[in-house]
Amino acid sequence: MPMIRETIVTTVRAKGIVHIAPLGIIADGDGWIIAPFRPSTTLENLRAVPFAVANYTDDVRVFAGCLTGRTSWSTIASDKVPVPRLAVALAHAELAVESIVEDEQRPRFRCRVVHRASHAPFAGFNRAQAAVIEAAILVSRLHLLPREKIASEIAYLEIAVTKTAGPAEQEAWDWLMEKVRAAP
Ligand SMILES: Cc1cc2nc3c(=O)[nH]c(=O)nc-3n(C[C@H](O)[C@H](O)[C@H](O)COP(=O)(O)O)c2cc1C
Repeated sequence: MPMIRETIVTTVRAKGIVHIAPLGIIADGDGWIIAPFRPSTTLENLRAVPFAVANYTDDVRVFAGCLTGRTSWSTIASDKVPVPRLAVALAHAELAVESIVEDEQRPRFRCRVVHRASHAPFAGFNRAQAAVIEAAILVSRLHLLPREKIASEIAYLEIAVTKTAGPAEQEAWDWLMEKVRAAP
């Protein structure tokens, strides 16, 4: 299996409106594959403007926020592509779509890295951050997964949150749990 990095992908609509979405980008030699499921704004945007930014951030509120309707995260112009990057990114990679492998369910956009930049140091691993990412993935699949599976995975992930979260991780977790509780 190829390596996947959980990132925040920024794309733009033709009019330049920025879209922010958590996506697992797939390692592909020196480049990355972005594989959005249909239907998705990221997919439409990549077709309209074939550039993206992979934002590497440890602020897990952006992951949880995007899945709970909190999408107003600050962005800054990128250096080489017409797509802004996240202001809170520790680092980012600017991507240009080189080719598209069409698929009924999940087209694959093969991207070349045109520029990379670092903005702040990596501060080390935090288990609550990993737990929030896992919970965000569960929340993105709430409509697909059985309730018991969601409940048991959340019970396990909550241990790391209780033991190791800082305020940002706790806030992100609370947003996700609110959505889980509200699910039909
Ligand atoms: C960590 C993480 C990784 C994700 N990776 C993908 C992905 O690779 N492809 C995808 O379609 N959705 C992925 N999702 C779900 C999307 O973030 C979500 O469906 C989002 O709304 C994308 O659709 P949009 O472009 O319309 O916003 C992921 C969610 C999380 C939390």
